[in-house]
Amino acid sequence: MKVSVYKGELRDLKIKSAVAFVYEDELRTLSKLGRGVSTKVKKALSIEDYKGKEGEIEKVLLPGQRIEVVYVIGLGKKSEADTDTFRRASAVAVKRLKKDKMEESVFLLPGRAGGKLSQAVAEGIILGDYSFDKYKSKKEENEFEVKEIRIYEGDEEAVKKGLLLAEAQNYARNLVNEPGNVINPITLAEEAQKLAREHNLKCKVYDEKDIQKMGMLALWSVGKGSATPPRFIHLTYEPKGKAKDRIVIVGKGLTFDSGGLNIKTGDYMRTMKMDKSGACAVLGIMKAIAQLKPSVEVHGIIGAAENMPSGTAYRPDDIIRAKNGKYIEIDNTDAEGRVTLADALSYASELKPSKIIDMATLTGACMVALGEYTAGLFTNSGRFAQEIKEVARETGERVWELPMDDKRLRKKIKKGPADVVNTGGRYGGAITAAMFLEEFVGEGIEWVHLDIAGPAWSRESYGYYVEGGTGFGVRTCLEYILRLDKR
Ligand code: BES
Ligand code: MN
Ligand code: ZN
Repeated sequence: MKVSVYKGELRDLKIKSAVAFVYEDELRTLSKLGRGVSTKVKKALSIEDYKGKEGEIEKVLLPGQRIEVVYVIGLGKKSEADTDTFRRASAVAVKRLKKDKMEESVFLLPGRAGGKLSQAVAEGIILGDYSFDKYKSKKEENEFEVKEIRIYEGDEEAVKKGLLLAEAQNYARNLVNEPGNVINPITLAEEAQKLAREHNLKCKVYDEKDIQKMGMLALWSVGKGSATPPRFIHLTYEPKGKAKDRIVIVGKGLTFDSGGLNIKTGDYMRTMKMDKSGACAVLGIMKAIAQLKPSVEVHGIIGAAENMPSGTAYRPDDIIRAKNGKYIEIDNTDAEGRVTLADALSYASELKPSKIIDMATLTGACMVALGEYTAGLFTNSGRFAQEIKEVARETGERVWELPMDDKRLRKKIKKGPADVVNTGGRYGGAITAAMFLEEFVGEGIEWVHLDIAGPAWSRESYGYYVEGGTGFGVRTCLEYILRLDKR
């Protein structure tokens, strides 16, 4: 689909349909349609008692008119609207255009289509247009393609940026949706290498022998029960001139999580192909960064493994030395993500960045605490966390901070014969997992951990998401890196 901006007079545009976005009880903004059309549309809306509540759609047919169909899309109350309102509304509009087999349309926003709104609309269009249907051998009837959407009086640069970010997110979604028989640690590493070739990034892949030699026995242990060995992936983007900052983005890369010897039951094992969502987000971020070219050095790190039960699998009671020298006792092989991240964070810290963000589908406990639409945020730096929260408000990716200062809770992972144990009991499970990770973050590095177990995967279609991988975290990390570039 092509998304462009239209700067001319609306009456000079030969187009079959228009989409007009309106705030609740502010139908006067429909006047952009031109006097004749807007009068007719308003009349039709008054008959239907249309209000403009969020998601409320009205299709108005204008036979014989220049624009034959006008979709009016409600944004809800103006006082409650933010950029994500426009992202969601644009996605709703695209889904409707698809359903109605409408090839092209022009989007009219209430008020000025400034930078932020133009970007959000472009993102909503691309995200809303997403579907994962490559394994449907017969193309479905409803797979109609909308050819072009023009954003009336939109900001061209902002639209371009929005398209790039949303496409990176869709790329991550595609990878998340690939099943474990297609994406395993080896093929995930191949994907990273392909990405690096296409976009001129550096990419180093370490195999299971390298992983052991480098002392990453935690990642290696998690992967050793699988017929497909683990891989460690390091992507690098270096700016042309002097870098303003250095940041590492780490993603949990469990291509499938069966639980290992502490095997999951069927219901919980289902969808565990999504346990690589953090890694897929890292790949999406690196893809976009290679094109955005900020003056910031960005590293993408993935410890890829498949958690399987077998005669070679790691066991409860095992004691493993991680890359930073700390010993981990395994209580439960299903708390594997933090074990792989122990090495990934140790490695990331050796790169001496000022900041690390990790994204991980780490705990069911985080979903119990915050629900499935919000990521848990954990940090060792209030300042860094504050900035991520600000950015996340703009991107519409919900995050909520959970505390790291509970000393008694911290003791729960400091028990047993080793330095740390990989579970901390039932209560505060998302927090003890984050505290475990903190053991592997180097001195003086600002760190944010996002537990994306909930929002990485959608069980329903809502806003700009459909069932499946969401690519959560891609846009927030990208906007944060672009912010570093601006200072
Ligand atoms: N990958 C899971 C967490 C998860 C659960 C992600 C549901 C997405 C949806 C993780 O590896 C896991 O199994 N965590 C355990 C930890 C427990 C054994 C301490 C959990 O949350 O039950
Ligand atoms: Mn697990
Ligand atoms: Zn897992």
